[in-house]
Amino acid sequence: MIKLDNIVKIYGINTEKKRALDGVSLEIADGELVSIIGPSGSGKSTLLNIIGCMDEATEGKYFLDNTEITSLSKSKIEDIRKDKIGFVFQHFALMDYYTAYENIELPLLIKNVKRANRKKMVNEQLEAMGIADVKNNIPAKMSGGQRQRVAIARALISGCSVLLADEPTGALDQATGREVLSLLKDINKRGTTVIIVTHDMNIAAQTDRVIEICDGKIVNNG
Ligand SMILES: Nc1ncnc2c1ncn2[C@@H]1O[C@H](COP(=O)(O)OP(=O)(O)OP(=O)(O)O)[C@@H](O)[C@H]1O
Ligand SMILES: [Mg+2]
Repeated sequence: MIKLDNIVKIYGINTEKKRALDGVSLEIADGELVSIIGPSGSGKSTLLNIIGCMDEATEGKYFLDNTEITSLSKSKIEDIRKDKIGFVFQHFALMDYYTAYENIELPLLIKNVKRANRKKMVNEQLEAMGIADVKNNIPAKMSGGQRQRVAIARALISGCSVLLADEPTGALDQATGREVLSLLKDINKRGTTVIIVTHDMNIAAQTDRVIEICDGKIVNNG
C-alpha cells in the first residue's frame, strides 16, 4: 500500500526554488495497475522517484506498507527500496558493457545471492521475458524492445512488490511499445503493483486507473 500525505517537493535554493510537487495526497492499493499522466514538467517523474524511494520529499509524509518512509534514515530507506521497488526507465539504463545475463544478475550480486541460485533465477527471468536468445548480447546488439525486457527482468529479479516505469515505451516504436505494455500488464496480473508514467493516452487508457497531475498537483485521482 502506497500512501502519500500532502507531499511537497521543492528543488533548488532561495530565488531558484521550484515547487515540483505541491501538496500531493494519494493512495495506491496493492496490485493496482495505474498510469500517471500530465504535461512535461508537471512533476510526474518527481512523484515516481519519491514513491520509489529514489528521492526525498521536502514536506509531507510517505507511507509504504504502513512504514513511514519520510521518518527513516537514508540507509534504511535504501534497504526498503532494494527489497520492494523495481524501476524501469525510458532509455533502459542498462550497463553498456554487460550482457543481458549480466545486467539482470546485477541486483543479485549486490544482494550476495549465491552463484547457483543466481544462475537459476536469471535464466528463469530470461525465459519469462522471452529474451533467452539474447542472453549473451550486450545492449548495443539488442532491439529496443529486447533492451526494455532486460530492464524489466532486472527490475523484477529481486522480487519487488511495486514496479515503477517512467515512460517505458517512450523510446520504442508503437508495436514494440504495445508489447512492453502487455508485458507490464501480465506482471501486474501476477500481483505486482505497477505504476506507469506516460505521455501516451493509448497506454494510459489500458490501465485500470489514470492519475492526472498538473503543476505539481493531482487534478484527477482516477
Ligand atoms: N533535480 C532538479 N533540480 C531542479 N529542478 C528540477 C529537478 N528535477 C526536476 N525539476 C523541475 O521540477 C519540475 C517537475 O519535473 P519532473 O521531472 O518531475 O516533470 P515531468 O512531469 O516528469 O516532466 P517530463 O514529462 O518532461 O518528464 C520541472 O519544472 C523540472 O524542471
Ligand atoms: Mg519525467
